[in-house]
Amino acid sequence: MGEIKVLPDVEALTSKALEVIIAAAQSAIQDRGQFSMALSGGSTPETVYRALAAPENRTRLDWAHMHLFWGDERHVPPNHPDSNFRMVKEHLLAVVPIPDENVHRVPAEMEVRMAAFHYEEVLRQYFDGEWPRFDLVLLGMGEDGHTASLFPHSAGLNEEQRWFIANYAPKRKDWRLTLTKNAINAARNIIVLVLGDVKADRLRKVLTGPEKPEDNPIQLIRPSDGQMVWLLDREAAKYLPDDLRG
Ligand code: 6PG
Repeated sequence: MGEIKVLPDVEALTSKALEVIIAAAQSAIQDRGQFSMALSGGSTPETVYRALAAPENRTRLDWAHMHLFWGDERHVPPNHPDSNFRMVKEHLLAVVPIPDENVHRVPAEMEVRMAAFHYEEVLRQYFDGEWPRFDLVLLGMGEDGHTASLFPHSAGLNEEQRWFIANYAPKRKDWRLTLTKNAINAARNIIVLVLGDVKADRLRKVLTGPEKPEDNPIQLIRPSDGQMVWLLDREAAKYLPDDLRG
């Protein structure tokens, strides 16, 4: 399940997320010369990107040795309002000195299956054909228990071989592009950001209820050989038992 930390508010949660990200980046660059991070969409991760872009934070990272990927993407062009790339570009890429070649965008303007195959090739090239082991994967959790674009009762939940797939979201009736559970679970570090009382009931089911990953796909996420931390605010954590509240 991983470590659970409950923070008093969004500012404290964001600050803790930055602390984990910056520590992981500095450690990876020192040990392996570079840092690979898979980014998430959603409003909670967006808050973290804005904070990371602030001068007092961005100057603590060696952007020339940082590589940014997307853990999931909507099936839209990069300038579309729903694009996760567009959101990261607006709040982070526009102000940090990261080389263009270190920004690995999902080609979501392509036919969706082709986009997934193309991006999986990008991952294979970066990770030298080994199973992708991101230094850090940043995730959110939807009210329905999804993470990345692994949605309840979607075919992608059962994918065992692939790293990155096109996944049809039944309830949303649209296609998404996403890392598979195995690709996420191979990461050295996983951060899950959950904010707000709107997530509280689902979070209780995910963390204290029965294992029902078809209903709660985020239950599939547990690193095979890495660290996982849930960063929650008090609202999201309000139904959790005291022994789980970190
Ligand atoms: C996306 C995200 C998605 C998101 C959750 C939580 O593309 O929307 O990858 O998995 O993280 O839906 O989003 P919020 O933080 O906005 O609730």
